Amino acid sequence: MRLNSLQLVNFRNYDNLYLEFNKKVNLLVGKNGQGKTNIVESIYMLSFGKSFRTSKDKEIVKFETENLYVGGNFSKEHTNGLIEVAIGKNKKGIKVNKIHIQKIYELLGNINVVIFSPEDLRLVKEGPKERRSFIDKEISQIMPKYYNYLTNYNKILFQRNQLLKSKNVDSALLDVYDESLAKYGSYIYILRRDFIKKIANISKNLHEKLTGGIEELSITYKNQLNICDEDTTSTVYNKFIEKLMSNREHDIETRTTRYGLHKDDLNIYINGLDVRLYGSQGQQRTASISLKLSEIELINNEVGEYPILILDDVFSELDETRQKLLVDNLNVVQMFITTAEIAHKNIFDKSNTTIFNIESGHVINIENGGN
Ligand SMILES: Nc1ncnc2c1ncn2[C@@H]1O[C@H](COP(=O)(O)OP(=O)(O)OP(=O)(O)O)[C@@H](O)[C@H]1O
Ligand SMILES: [Mg+2]
Repeated sequence: MRLNSLQLVNFRNYDNLYLEFNKKVNLLVGKNGQGKTNIVESIYMLSFGKSFRTSKDKEIVKFETENLYVGGNFSKEHTNGLIEVAIGKNKKGIKVNKIHIQKIYELLGNINVVIFSPEDLRLVKEGPKERRSFIDKEISQIMPKYYNYLTNYNKILFQRNQLLKSKNVDSALLDVYDESLAKYGSYIYILRRDFIKKIANISKNLHEKLTGGIEELSITYKNQLNICDEDTTSTVYNKFIEKLMSNREHDIETRTTRYGLHKDDLNIYINGLDVRLYGSQGQQRTASISLKLSEIELINNEVGEYPILILDDVFSELDETRQKLLVDNLNVVQMFITTAEIAHKNIFDKSNTTIFNIESGHVINIENGGN
């Protein structure tokens, strides 16, 4: 999968921009605040229909203008396509191959994008909440129905906790909530288990490459129900109901739900040691890279095409060895890399890299390295 060209009108600090891209490496170079991330933000919009920086569309429209347009031509193995997003005052339209779409899920999957930002380097170091959000986003990208299950689960969990906080807890109503929680919970547990197993394999291989075979990364699913490979949706449902029942008194006392998906996490080990407790900063960062980038191979396995990879500002956070390993190991994907450091130009093979030099909303110079 690759993006061939991009057209922007009134997008952030760009008036009117048309770019043609390299099918391998596209390096966006410029000083801080010039418009590098704005370009990758527009590419992300072609994939998800919205920005990764804001949920308010009007912030993306160029100051003192009203109508924004982003258009991108993409190629897949067997097809070409055009995605267009237009935002005007109080209206928004998205077209796939010139046809208006009604629902965002009709857009998803046309272009798969993986974006890697500096926050992702802290994925291993951060708390469980960040890792759960990583898991949720990744599974939703390859399986939109997962997102619906999760929304329902969270809604019911919220209602259950509200009930537990009330003066007289109605146990018949609690029964109803428990059943729904276990129903959606069991779907999600199984999908998380399967997903984690897949990314564990991929990230183990990636980590081995990134560390020259010195470190073995092992990732497993940490959950309160001891979900195992043999469990089916109905066994998970029963396990969950049982936990909720045997903890009911405790839940009523503490006025909150003790067991469930909302406590899930990942166990992350390097050479048998818990990397969160014993790993160095560098090990934690490399493990984060392996984990985050496992998404690329997973999308290829599930969708049949490699996604487009965006590296926004992560380059300057890595040492030269890791930068080189990263680029060499990912040579199958089309990349968009933003950096403020001109020195990074030297890391890339000139014959398959195009460099876009950016200054205050203009691409002032393009160094073309062939295609
Ligand atoms: N709606 C908008 N209209 C016009 N300009 C905008 C708008 N939103 C942001 N900008 C401008 O875009 C610039 C920031 O662009 P961007 O975030 O792409 O910078 P960058 O090159 O990635 O910088 P850094 O290296 O610091 O990450 C700022 O100068 C900001 O004022
Ligand atoms: Mg930026």
